[in-house]
Amino acid sequence: MKIYVPRDAAAKALGADRVVKAIEAEIAERGIDATIVRNGTRGMIWLEPLVEIETSEGRIGYGPVTPADVKAIFEGDSDKGLGNVEEIPFFAQQNRLTFARVGKIDPLSMADYEAHGGLSGLRRALTLNGDQLIDEMKTSGLRGRGGAGFPTGIKWDTVRLAQAEQKYIVCNADEGDSGTFADRMIMEGDPFTLIEGMVIAGLTVGATKGYVYIRSEYPDAIEVMSSACAIARDHGLLGNVVGSGNTFDIEVRVGAGAYVCGEETSLLNSLEGKRGTVRAKPPLPALQGFMGRPTVVNNVISLATVPVIFEKGGQHYADFGLGRSKGTMPIQIAGNVKFGGLFETAFGMPLGDLVNKIGGGTASGRPVKAVQVGGPLGAYMPVSKFDTPFGYEEFDGQGGLIGHAGIVVFDDSADMLGMARFAMEFCAVESCGKCTPCRIGAVRGVETIDRIAKGDGEAVELLTDLCETMKDGSLCALGGFTPYPVMSALQNFPEEFQGVKEAAE
Ligand SMILES: Cc1cc2nc3c(=O)[nH]c(=O)nc-3n(C[C@H](O)[C@H](O)[C@H](O)COP(=O)(O)O)c2cc1C
Ligand code: SF4
Repeated sequence: MKIYVPRDAAAKALGADRVVKAIEAEIAERGIDATIVRNGTRGMIWLEPLVEIETSEGRIGYGPVTPADVKAIFEGDSDKGLGNVEEIPFFAQQNRLTFARVGKIDPLSMADYEAHGGLSGLRRALTLNGDQLIDEMKTSGLRGRGGAGFPTGIKWDTVRLAQAEQKYIVCNADEGDSGTFADRMIMEGDPFTLIEGMVIAGLTVGATKGYVYIRSEYPDAIEVMSSACAIARDHGLLGNVVGSGNTFDIEVRVGAGAYVCGEETSLLNSLEGKRGTVRAKPPLPALQGFMGRPTVVNNVISLATVPVIFEKGGQHYADFGLGRSKGTMPIQIAGNVKFGGLFETAFGMPLGDLVNKIGGGTASGRPVKAVQVGGPLGAYMPVSKFDTPFGYEEFDGQGGLIGHAGIVVFDDSADMLGMARFAMEFCAVESCGKCTPCRIGAVRGVETIDRIAKGDGEAVELLTDLCETMKDGSLCALGGFTPYPVMSALQNFPEEFQGVKEAAE
């Protein structure tokens, strides 16, 4: 008998370890022959800890399970039964390509990984030459999932064509956006797919060394990735790559914790042991990156999607999606929402469906007021924009961005002026300090919003001007994109910026 209990940080935070202890005690008391597998999460966070029992009819789920529920599960009269986990509508409606194995397998079992299609992408990649590898990536249409949406195939080609003794693959696992957890989920639930993706990237561009830069706030991901690299080395996935004569190895590095260290050039400085300040571009990291060498910097999801592209073919991947937003996106639904979690689907689903049909509306039961999409620098999308299909260009056209695809839901009690102030303050606190519009502009921005809150209507024009300056004059997107949340709050909820509350007092 196999019993699955996630080792994912979210499941653990909700009591998964205590549930495991209760299951172990029950197994010992009953003298049953059973194995507990610590899998990743299925991504249905409201059901965590989600316990699954393997049966002839598939994996039957129970959740959210507390230690007190365990006895009833073994006795067959639990009221926490969910039936076949893969038939739960939230799960069944997804198109899982990148996350196909997450929640299913034991994350640190290479045998389980291979039994579920692992390494077939790499084996196929090893039969292709450099041009064919790049073509496959370009055909897939994969765009960087870290935020900017730059085509991965073109980035790889730049690094491949650069002449240098040493090249690098750097995986950006800093995941600082609000409401996002997809990078963490994949590292904790299917680390070998990230390793395999990095190996394929190395083969394609001619890099022999890779780094995974993980935020320090992710101790579980750091532990799983470190163990996975050691296991991959033992199994010959790293080192002499599956006996092919190609060399590739990976080191896990831990960031000290600053939002701006997710910005690729700041990350590279941090990786080199320097202060995490942004570098001016050009030169692009693709030409002068880590230690001044040509470097691919890609997000976790971008790299973890590479194996399935090679396993199923670039065209198979490109057949999902909408316009230039090809493939699937792991959308992270968070905030004040009933069914929060990870929903991987082809681009194109309207935002309102994601929030109301998939997410079930607010957890508070009050009407939705706005959703912030794309992290702390993303716009607040009002309900009137809920028809917007999920896609890079479609969101851009509505004054928004999809970033790392985190959706944070707010109900009608949200204070939008307060949210605009929070965005400015976030920028002031997290600014690397290199350029004036961001370093000083954000501080002045907070002061200006405070003036508006006190009823100074003229300060609204000043705030608009300041946002224009920050947008046009900042060196990187931290300062350059802070106007998105601020201006979207102002434009979509103007009545909250009239200082009425204070003025009336
Ligand atoms: C302030 C700031 C923070 C960022 N944080 C992240 C992050 O946490 N993870 C990430 O992958 N990209 C982040 N990015 C984007 C990276 O600079 C870069 O575009 C990305 O890592 C490239 O990988 P991709 O092409 O696979 O998306 C951030 C950018 C900015 C400006
Ligand atoms: S915009 Fe802000 S974070 Fe970016 S380089 Fe300028 S000061 Fe640094």
